[in-house]
Amino acid sequence: PIYPVLLCGGSGTRLWPLSRKSYPKQFVPLVGDQTLFQASALRLTGDGFADPVIVTNSDFRFIVTEQLAAIGREHSALMIEPSARNTAPAILAAALWIEAQNPDALMLVAPSDHVVPDGAAFRAAVAAGTELAQSGKMVTFGIKPTYAETGYGYIECAGALGEGAHDVARFTEKPDAETAQKMLDAGNFLWNAGIFLFSVKTVIAAFEAHASAMTTPVRDAVENALPDLGFLRLAPEPWNKLGDVSVDYAIMEKADNLAVIGFDQGWSDLGGWDAVWRELPHDDNGVALTGPATAIDCENTLLRSEDDELEVVGIGLKNVLAVAMPDAVLIADMSRAQDVKKAVTALKAKR
Ligand code: GDD
Ligand code: MG
Repeated sequence: PIYPVLLCGGSGTRLWPLSRKSYPKQFVPLVGDQTLFQASALRLTGDGFADPVIVTNSDFRFIVTEQLAAIGREHSALMIEPSARNTAPAILAAALWIEAQNPDALMLVAPSDHVVPDGAAFRAAVAAGTELAQSGKMVTFGIKPTYAETGYGYIECAGALGEGAHDVARFTEKPDAETAQKMLDAGNFLWNAGIFLFSVKTVIAAFEAHASAMTTPVRDAVENALPDLGFLRLAPEPWNKLGDVSVDYAIMEKADNLAVIGFDQGWSDLGGWDAVWRELPHDDNGVALTGPATAIDCENTLLRSEDDELEVVGIGLKNVLAVAMPDAVLIADMSRAQDVKKAVTALKAKR
């Protein structure tokens, strides 16, 4: 089977005030009725999938089990990281745990905070990559880029490997603006969706080849993990020695066995309120409303109330993001959505 590995350790500061350190965006219903985490878990279940392996931190462990129970799902393992060390150690820890259950398993690493509206189309893309993964490829999922985003990884497509699949000439994580623009103009690059399919054997070998310094501490942390109320606490002593590194830098940029499956049926990593606005249903003027909110003569605007008792009204607004919580209100120009993380920093400094 394919083991889904759901990463949910991030804190999502660009979606303040809804996303909080104690309750980050993946656990909130941002678009639709389910939380992003629940939608991700549902997307990756059914035929051919094992119950997911969840990698998160201690603060979120009960949120995870409650949200899984609410959708009638269970986990194969819920691994607790003693500290956040970014995605590379988390993925290696999951791979080692899965290997111990089933050395021939495939794993599908997915963030828990993305929107993929068409789950069936996504599962078809995964099915299209299964044989490649079994043959030793590390399969990525590529999104057609629409602008020179510098916060994503870029995948340079090489020769075709069958329907919708390509070999990868090179993987570049978070290029500078000039390089991103060149890649966009070149036409043969895709954005990395941050979703990966590989066999546990292949990914463990990639860590041994390209990031060997982390293999011993991660192995020790998994082998000495403490079972605790159905959770698996990774051993803190080896884990806390690890550096902070993402899987993209640790192995994807270095490996020569990548493949990419193009996916063009809708994907967003909800990297800001502008992206949330884009994913929500709009009226003809581009107005999206959530909760008790009313727009009069507004255009391209998000008005969002997170409290049934709190009415939000906009008049004559254009390109505005307004998000009201009982204890905080954000009002921002649409073009400044990325600066919301500055608000979080500024508020921290005040306290
Ligand atoms: N368990 C755990 N522990 N999860 C983590 C940790 C950690 O220490 N750090 C991050 N995550 C989770 C985040 O919650 C998110 O779901 C996922 O791992 C990816 O981490 P991000 O920090 O959001 O990565 P990114 O957005 O900068 O870049 C990645 O995603 C892009 C697409 O959204 C890269 O893979 C890029 O190449 C890619 O384009
Ligand atoms: Mg991200």
